[in-house]
Amino acid sequence: MSMVELRNVRKSFGPVDVIHGVDLDVEEGEFVVFVGPSGCGKSTLLRLISGLEVLTDGELSIDGRSMRGISPSARQVAMVFQSYALYPHMTVADNMSFALRMEGVPRRQRRAQVEEIARTLRLEDLLDRKPRELSGGQRQRVAIGRCIVRKPKVFLFDEPLSNLDAELRVQMRVELTNLHRDLGVTSIYVTHDQIEAMTMADRIVVLRDGVIEQVGTPTELYERPGNRFVAGFIGSPKMNFLSGELRELTAAGIGVAIDGQLGDPLRFDCPTDGMQVGDQVSIGIRPEHFVEPDESGARLRTTVGSVEKLGDEAYLYAPDNPAGPLIVRKQGRAAASRAYDDIELGLDAGLCHVFDRNGVAVANGGTTNR
Ligand SMILES: Nc1ncnc2c1ncn2[C@@H]1O[C@H](COP(=O)(O)OP(=O)(O)OP(=O)(O)O)[C@@H](O)[C@H]1O
Ligand SMILES: [Mg+2]
Repeated sequence: MSMVELRNVRKSFGPVDVIHGVDLDVEEGEFVVFVGPSGCGKSTLLRLISGLEVLTDGELSIDGRSMRGISPSARQVAMVFQSYALYPHMTVADNMSFALRMEGVPRRQRRAQVEEIARTLRLEDLLDRKPRELSGGQRQRVAIGRCIVRKPKVFLFDEPLSNLDAELRVQMRVELTNLHRDLGVTSIYVTHDQIEAMTMADRIVVLRDGVIEQVGTPTELYERPGNRFVAGFIGSPKMNFLSGELRELTAAGIGVAIDGQLGDPLRFDCPTDGMQVGDQVSIGIRPEHFVEPDESGARLRTTVGSVEKLGDEAYLYAPDNPAGPLIVRKQGRAAASRAYDDIELGLDAGLCHVFDRNGVAVANGGTTNR
């Protein structure tokens, strides 16, 4: 039995269908991250789980119990939002113990619980302050503390760090990860931040237009995206998609070449049902996955348009190629390229992805030449 189970969950607002039948199991103690473009339904899903919205159709259960007709406060679910509305006239301690007071927990017990959580969140010296006397990160910690004291079965986070500055975000990201490790509470976390998703998640759920596109560990989604959408969504800068053609077809797989490519085709072992020589394909290569070119191997020749230098690494932008624009990440000495340089980029099929005309991945990594 999973901690949170969604079965064919649908949600419409009036005539507008927003969630189109979502199936998902979140295991006890798991940290699951929802990502997807703005408007794809991430917050709506969280609100359905928390009970702030009612399902139009489907089933939702938490800890084995159907949530049909169960009010938000009875679900043992806590939600942390981007804007954390603390009560301004109350101290940190009172903010954190508010829910316990509403539940009729005696004062002494409330104080003990709040102090314990304050230690975990490093808020013990701030308990008598008012929210206006705290930094953004401290306020967000209070908002989290306020949820933890209720000992929820599930934590729901809706972009909790997006109002913080870059440094605080990094700090809070590490703190939230540690907190999850220490408390082990099942968590569902929405973010637009690639690094948060990749570093915090046990599994990532990629959503598009109210549908789950793919669920997997960060590594699975990075190495084996099931389609072009997921491939383009996970990773930053995003994967290059270059036009190409199917050149070889054998019982074992395919050989493809990027338009304008030099050297042998890129070879992939994969099912070949319905494929034909001459088919147009899209070949995906992440900016960090170009290799040193070797003389006769598969390679691309291009001209650098502009360079972004970031210290030890640089991004080269090469907009004009027969196969489409591309971005290349170079590290160390190799990052010394400049605009108008003509460069050669080595291609390793082991680091390339092939997508068919519908954007479905037909191969994630082929015969490596390294
Ligand atoms: N109460 C509502 N009434 C009507 N439409 C709504 C309502 N709430 C959300 N929507 C619509 O549902 C869709 C999904 O919204 P949702 O807030 O879940 O997106 P999101 O993935 O969280 O986006 P973002 O990344 O911008 O926060 C959007 O098209 C939104 O306009
Ligand atoms: Mg949202």
